[in-house]
Amino acid sequence: MITSQLLAYVATSIFCILKVSAVDKFIAAVYEHAVVLPNTSLTPVSCEEALALMKLNLDLLQRAITSAAKQGAHIIVTPEDGIYGWNFTRETIYPYLEDIPDPRENWIPCNDPNRFGHNPVQERLSCLAKNNSIYVVANIGDKKPCNASDPQCPIDGRYQYNTDVVFDSEGKLAARYHKQNLFTSEEHFNSPKRPEVVTFNTTFGKFGIFTCFDILFHDPAVTLVKDFHVDTILFPTAWMNVLPHLSAVEFHSAWAMGLGVNFLAANLHHPLKEMTGSGIYAPDSPRAFHYDMKTEEGKLLLSQLDSHPPRSVVNWSSYARSIEAYSTESQKFKGIVFFDEFTFVELMGVTGNYTVCHRDLCCHLSYKMSEKRSDEVYALGAFDGLHTVEGNYYLQVCTMLKCETTDLETCGDSVETASTRFEMFSLSGTFGTQYVFPEVLLSEVQLAPAEFQVSNDGRLFSLKPTSGPVLTVTLFGRWYEKDGELNTSSDLKAQALG
Ligand SMILES: *[C@@H]1O[C@H](CO)[C@@H](O)[C@H](O)[C@H]1NC(C)=O
Ligand SMILES: *[C@@H]1O[C@H](CO)[C@@H](O)[C@H](O)[C@H]1NC(C)=O
Ligand SMILES: *[C@@H]1O[C@H](CO)[C@@H](O)[C@H](O)[C@H]1NC(C)=O
Ligand SMILES: *[C@@H]1O[C@H](CO)[C@@H](O)[C@H](O)[C@H]1NC(C)=O
Ligand SMILES: *[C@@H]1O[C@H](CO)[C@@H](O)[C@H](O)[C@H]1NC(C)=O
Ligand SMILES: *[C@@H]1O[C@H](CO)[C@@H](O)[C@H](O)[C@H]1NC(C)=O
Ligand SMILES: *[C@@H]1O[C@H](CO)[C@@H](O)[C@H](O)[C@H]1NC(C)=O
Ligand SMILES: *[C@@H]1O[C@H](CO)[C@@H](O)[C@H](O)[C@H]1NC(C)=O
Repeated sequence: MITSQLLAYVATSIFCILKVSAVDKFIAAVYEHAVVLPNTSLTPVSCEEALALMKLNLDLLQRAITSAAKQGAHIIVTPEDGIYGWNFTRETIYPYLEDIPDPRENWIPCNDPNRFGHNPVQERLSCLAKNNSIYVVANIGDKKPCNASDPQCPIDGRYQYNTDVVFDSEGKLAARYHKQNLFTSEEHFNSPKRPEVVTFNTTFGKFGIFTCFDILFHDPAVTLVKDFHVDTILFPTAWMNVLPHLSAVEFHSAWAMGLGVNFLAANLHHPLKEMTGSGIYAPDSPRAFHYDMKTEEGKLLLSQLDSHPPRSVVNWSSYARSIEAYSTESQKFKGIVFFDEFTFVELMGVTGNYTVCHRDLCCHLSYKMSEKRSDEVYALGAFDGLHTVEGNYYLQVCTMLKCETTDLETCGDSVETASTRFEMFSLSGTFGTQYVFPEVLLSEVQLAPAEFQVSNDGRLFSLKPTSGPVLTVTLFGRWYEKDGELNTSSDLKAQALG
């Protein structure tokens, strides 16, 4: 009797341990969502109209969430602004906002919908997570009243936050993150007073979360990885692509590799505004990605990832500082890449070694093309300086890119197609920063999974001939400590963001 009770007890304990024991791998899903936009975002609507619009989007998200769960996904990420769109004023966004409580309240909206007032969007998301036993990551708006006791309280008596929420597989609100680095067009939202570093544990690894423009800055993005050691970043975004270096799939996959984390990026799908490009990125290589400027359709991606991806340490300047500069006969010239003036040299031969420097950064390239075409020009460029348009951020960039035409004046312009494949390339630079994001982008804005690698001494090199023609091979460095170099303009920016 006692023995069998004991056995039953032991059996139950083992079962429980198994149930919560860690798993080595998990299935991630991201959904690129073609958001249904409100008919008007610049004149106020009623709460009922706002909810009706949000329901249209939640219906579409529901299809993606149930489909992902049926295919075994543990977690699904949906995009920033995916439930109501963008382009509001403080007043017109208001009917779309809900009061999102602190996750420490242990709230399951699906079980207890009215505990914090009327929150139909959170209730719906919570039930979707619970009913399908899947973590659901979404982006909604939070409102928090304030008054004159707080000197920073906005004149309309409330803070409005661009907010990521995570509901766990039981429907509980597991995380809430208020976006720190708002884009210039987000004057309808406030930044939190201090960056919020939001993490949560699961049986399939530790997660951190941030959104869109946050990716260009140190806090909270880098802190989550360096100090909080998360395994996977969740990244709802509404990303407008900018070539040659800031197209969504290109830059987000590079961030995963540069910092050595899994990265789940869900973008809006709105080709008219250059919004497309979502992916599931492991540190060693993209596992799934989607870029589609041709259709109006959303897209669900799934892939398996390691719960705890191994991290390698790269010294980004070690190789470049160890070699002599290659002698370069070509004439140097200036070219503008997204408002920054790079120093370039033209790649003259089918194969070659080139060095180009700008201020303290020297970039070395060895390459071999499949053929040197007369109708295409490639150049090697360097930039070491503060970028000041749509945000201030200090860059150190080494880039080999296809010029838009054979006119050197077009080197750095946005170009989406190319015809030249490369047999090999190896790019390195004398970086002063430890934060460098390696990008390889092929014609038609395609990634090159498993075709290149970064060595511990900081070379970005090909493992095989490229599977397609090359748009760019780039080491995109961010030197966060130097962002304050132009103190006056960053103060102005802080004021503009309220
Ligand atoms: C937008 O306006 C059209 C035409 O008046 C209407 O049919 C549609 O339901 C409206 N859409 C939304 C999301 O309110
Ligand atoms: C915002 O809406 C206004 C008016 O409808 C439109 O002119 C503008 O292009 C929109 N801006 C964006 C960023 O969508
Ligand atoms: C969740 O399941 C309950 C009970 O089956 C159902 O009433 C509800 O509509 C479901 N909600 C969602 C969002 O799937
Ligand atoms: C002002 O806000 C504080 C902090 O949120 C709150 O404790 C207080 O009750 C508010 N005062 C009034 C008059 O609403
Ligand atoms: C998360 O898990 C790690 C490793 O199992 C543990 O050290 C840490 O305390 C956990 N953190 C939380 C917030 O539960
Ligand atoms: C990287 O390597 C260079 C040259 O080998 C060395 O001077 C530098 O201290 C190293 N940097 C780091 C962060 O280890
Ligand atoms: C480039 O340099 C490598 C050694 O670093 C050398 O083997 C190769 O021949 C050089 N290529 C050209 C075209 O000079
Ligand atoms: C900007 O601020 C930093 C530290 O706050 C200071 O060291 C630097 O001299 C300032 N630069 C200018 C141009 O004022």
